[in-house]
Amino acid sequence: MTLGTTTQAYGDPSYWDNRYAQEPGTFDWYQKYPALAPLLHLYIPTHHRILVVGCGNSAFSEGMVDDGYVDVVNIDISSVAIEAMRKKCSNLPQLKYIKMDVRDMSAFQTGSFEAVVDKGTLDSLLCGSNSRLNATKMLEEVGRVLKDKGVYILITYGAPIYRLRLLRDALSCTIKLHVIEKLLSEESSGHKKWDLTSAIPLDDNGNSVEAALGKNPDVHYIYVCIKARPEAWSRGLKISSFSLVCLDSLCST
Ligand SMILES: C[S@@+](CC[C@H](N)C(=O)[O-])C[C@H]1O[C@@H](n2cnc3c(N)ncnc32)[C@H](O)[C@@H]1O
Repeated sequence: MTLGTTTQAYGDPSYWDNRYAQEPGTFDWYQKYPALAPLLHLYIPTHHRILVVGCGNSAFSEGMVDDGYVDVVNIDISSVAIEAMRKKCSNLPQLKYIKMDVRDMSAFQTGSFEAVVDKGTLDSLLCGSNSRLNATKMLEEVGRVLKDKGVYILITYGAPIYRLRLLRDALSCTIKLHVIEKLLSEESSGHKKWDLTSAIPLDDNGNSVEAALGKNPDVHYIYVCIKARPEAWSRGLKISSFSLVCLDSLCST
């Protein structure tokens, strides 16, 4: 997602219907499945039930199926994209495509999925009007449909300073951060390279990320948010940026 005068349209559902009607075929934002596969395997076993939010006409979920994933539900607010993907993937029973607004996933019961994957959808909502409210609604729904200890994997252009507070305020989770070089930028970057599957040290304000990668690294950020168990609340451990160490130990048990 590039910053420019039209970015506000990314928050408008009618923009997406028009775009998918005018540009049929497949398009993947930011990264394609094979580049991210090692990270998915690190956090999501292939038999887990996965929700891909804002799938668009991306080939990402087909890549997952080729790679062994067996139960992938895809939603998007664009009926044009959903119809096209239903037709295209009618021979893949591992994939379901449903038109749904990620801010209201009441058709799914609480705790329906072990993983939610988001490549560019929170970013879209953050471009539109009422962005903070829409993003919070979306994240609360993501948190609701996830099982305890389920993972929300967010692939975004947003650096920690723009995403961490939002994630921590809306989700009761512990967060790990990974990065991947932007496509076509491998030669141009003078920054340190970082292995996709190694989490970057993450402090409260993201300064540790700059120390690890340098200033303005040419990367996409991948936030892996692991949902806390409800006992964390009943034991009075209010989850905030200050209790991440507690949560890390809860989630690893
Ligand atoms: C930047 S595109 C990313 C598409 C795809 N995930 C990819 O990686 O190529 C954002 C997608 O989010 C969808 N979207 C926007 N607002 C949405 C909402 N409220 N609920 C569900 N999907 C939404 C758009 O229709 C679009 O397909």
